[in-house]
Amino acid sequence: MRSAALSFLALTATLRHRVSAQALSAAAVSEVTARLAQGAQKSWELGTRAESLLELDVPQFSVFSATPLPPPTSVPSNATSAIAPVFSIAHNVVKALNKSSTPQPLISDDGAAGDPPAIGVAVLLANWTGQGASDGLDYAAAAKSQLDYVLDVVPRTSDGAISHRAAQVQLWSDSVYMVPPFLAYYGVLSGNTTLISEAYNQIKLYRNYLRDTKAKNLWKHIVLGTDPSDGGNDEGHWSTGNAWAAAGMLRVLATMKNSPYSKSFSNQQKDLASWVKEIHSAMFSYVDSTNIFTNYADTPVNSNGMFYDTASTALLASTVYRASLLLNDHSHLPNAEKCRKALFASGSSASSQPTGRTSSSGSASITAPASSASATTAPLADLVHFTSDGWLSPVVNPHQFGVEGSESPEGQAFVLQMQASYSEWVAGGSIGANAARGTAVVGWVWLAGCVVVGGLLVFV
Ligand SMILES: *[C@@H]1O[C@H](CO)[C@@H](O)[C@H](O)[C@H]1NC(C)=O
Ligand SMILES: *[C@@H]1O[C@H](CO)[C@@H](O)[C@H](O)[C@H]1NC(C)=O
Ligand SMILES: *[C@@H]1O[C@H](CO)[C@@H](O)[C@H](O)[C@H]1NC(C)=O
Ligand SMILES: *[C@@H]1O[C@H](CO)[C@@H](O)[C@H](O)[C@H]1NC(C)=O
Repeated sequence: MRSAALSFLALTATLRHRVSAQALSAAAVSEVTARLAQGAQKSWELGTRAESLLELDVPQFSVFSATPLPPPTSVPSNATSAIAPVFSIAHNVVKALNKSSTPQPLISDDGAAGDPPAIGVAVLLANWTGQGASDGLDYAAAAKSQLDYVLDVVPRTSDGAISHRAAQVQLWSDSVYMVPPFLAYYGVLSGNTTLISEAYNQIKLYRNYLRDTKAKNLWKHIVLGTDPSDGGNDEGHWSTGNAWAAAGMLRVLATMKNSPYSKSFSNQQKDLASWVKEIHSAMFSYVDSTNIFTNYADTPVNSNGMFYDTASTALLASTVYRASLLLNDHSHLPNAEKCRKALFASGSSASSQPTGRTSSSGSASITAPASSASATTAPLADLVHFTSDGWLSPVVNPHQFGVEGSESPEGQAFVLQMQASYSEWVAGGSIGANAARGTAVVGWVWLAGCVVVGGLLVFV
């Protein structure tokens, strides 16, 4: 009985700490943002960084804003410094291009044809707001060259799905975040509805290939294309890949919805909404009591070296807040709130949280994250899932998807997306929070019931 009472107290303490976890402070966000800026080098990291900064710092230029698309053609003076890092990404990328080589991707140094279009939204925005007038760069030509490359040069499946790789036809769930949002944004800014349709069509094709009905509709990570020199398949249900797919679909949906073409794409928006929900239902059916996803959602952490991944957890949670804001669909908010509270948990609730690296036997070990900043002054020092200098932890190695890593630029971007979407959801009145509170109440009632029953047992 004593041990039951102790575990009751421990559980009570855990719930209290989880409930108290708030959004990150401004100082903490600026640490996370600084690590992202340091770490983001690869094409998709730059693109994701740009989109995350727009969401968080200049929301009126994000596709998720209620401001109609196309966006304003000029940047108001109170937003110029906030948007500067986004334009700087576009500037550096376009400046490095060889203009006489066209069509070409925005960055050509990796074999992933499907990643560079992620920078396209920043480049299109730079063109739209006239950045070329001050730096002399031709952003429109760079975007057009990237568009032509992805549509006309990159190989496809026989039914038209654009490969993620340049050297062979291979489909990655990641691509859903990188390519369709660029096509849709390009379509809206240039008034070309064929491109908006193509964004939807690519997602539909990718879902046909990657959705796994044998795993409750989780998406596989990589199918087709078996050339070992170009990387093999990965039919596992990679958590980040599922989150990329949901997040990409929501970007396309928001781009359609906020555009003048919303009505003519209403059926497509309905499909996208249901496909996002399909991923949410699948993913949350597998998360364990830590509310942090494992690197492959349906593989438990004690199996075969599997580890917890906070990066996918942050991106997936952000898509739930987005779905709530965009679609009035609050069904998974209780899940997202649990994820967010686990991600932002403070040190006092550490015992309930997976941290650090897993041991070679695969069981989760509880180790303090490495730190390189003064623990007494760092704004993130008390948070279990951040190093004191602001890196999210534990995370998958973003350049080697089966392996645990230590510093993930995309993970940093996902934290910003979660912070942005969560803050907007709170500002909008936390609609659907009652469902989350209802779950907490049920938990307390359940606990109270246990105590009463436990007490009765003692008397018997
Ligand atoms: C700039 O001002 C507008 C209108 O007053 C406001 O809506 C917007 O949030 C401000 N933007 C920034 C980045 O402060
Ligand atoms: C630029 O591209 C053109 C056409 O592909 C090529 O002939 C030229 O060598 C390239 N220039 C540089 C500096 O790489
Ligand atoms: C570039 O911006 C101009 C408006 O400044 C617009 O007319 C043009 O369609 C844009 N090009 C692309 C590729 O979006
Ligand atoms: C829309 O874009 C596609 C792909 O670049 C192009 O083939 C087509 O001509 C464009 N349609 C219009 C109406 O501009």
